[in-house]
Amino acid sequence: MTFETILLDKQEGVAFITLNRPEALNALNAALLSEVGEALLSLDKDDDVGAIVITGSEKAFAAGADIKEMAEQSFAEVLKEDKFAAINAVFAAIHKPVIAAVSGYALGGGCELAMACDFIIAAESAKFGQPEIKLGVIPGMGGSQRLTRIIGKSKAMDMILTGRMMDAAEAERAGLVSRIVPTEDLIEHVTEIARGIAHLSLPSVILAKEATNRALETTLTEGLIFERRVFHSLFATNDQKEGMNAFIEKRQPQFKNS
Ligand code: HXC
Repeated sequence: MTFETILLDKQEGVAFITLNRPEALNALNAALLSEVGEALLSLDKDDDVGAIVITGSEKAFAAGADIKEMAEQSFAEVLKEDKFAAINAVFAAIHKPVIAAVSGYALGGGCELAMACDFIIAAESAKFGQPEIKLGVIPGMGGSQRLTRIIGKSKAMDMILTGRMMDAAEAERAGLVSRIVPTEDLIEHVTEIARGIAHLSLPSVILAKEATNRALETTLTEGLIFERRVFHSLFATNDQKEGMNAFIEKRQPQFKNS
């Protein structure tokens, strides 16, 4: 696969998708969204990959959808093209964990792309925002829905109606990011986290992601039933025997993803 707007790298079970439009602070144009989608779908099928990281540059994870590409589009065109729905559908289809490693600006579609990932690790330099309102539009790739579920109505309204940015510390307090790390060490920290996950049993990782996502989609009663059945089903794997026996025998487990 050759790409023009992203870089793809694989190391020891971890795949890195690096957004690479430095001239536009990684603004999400149609080509970039399509390449991210294509890369995600192929990495999800790749047996050498156990976890995926999406990152940008030190200055910008992504400064939003590409305003220059959108500026002159008509209602009928954006309705027909619907490129932001397509990438959300790709994320919904990915089984493996996807981690956003955010340094610098994650604005508009950039913040929404980070939120489409399973969790966000922020550099101290990270800045999140949904500034679409200042352009006469609103978030269009999940911002009004995901941000509200993640940080609650009051703060989401504040962000979406004022278009202001929040820094990494505020984002961590609000639960938008799971951890903050020194900016210069972002990739090192995220690599270690992703590698740790990639060494676990893939069936349990896939089902842990699915069960956790189910919490946002269903009632507590249904979610608890779903979790119980998934928990029971993992006793059919060799890796459950290996994981528990390794604990008892005081050794590291050797998972075979079976
Ligand atoms: C296209 C962009 C861009 C964007 C930056 N650039 N953001 N191009 N779309 N979203 C370009 C600039 O035009 C400029 O190119 C170059 O990147 C560097 O940007 P500067 O503005 O010169 O950098 P700086 O002064 O450091 O300011 C950084 C910034 C600012 C604060 C992040 O660039 C900014 O406010 N960007 C727009 C943020 C935004 O409104 N995002 C939401 C987009 S709408 P040139 O060639 O001109 O020098 C959106 C809709 C989502 O995301 C709906 C579905 C996804």
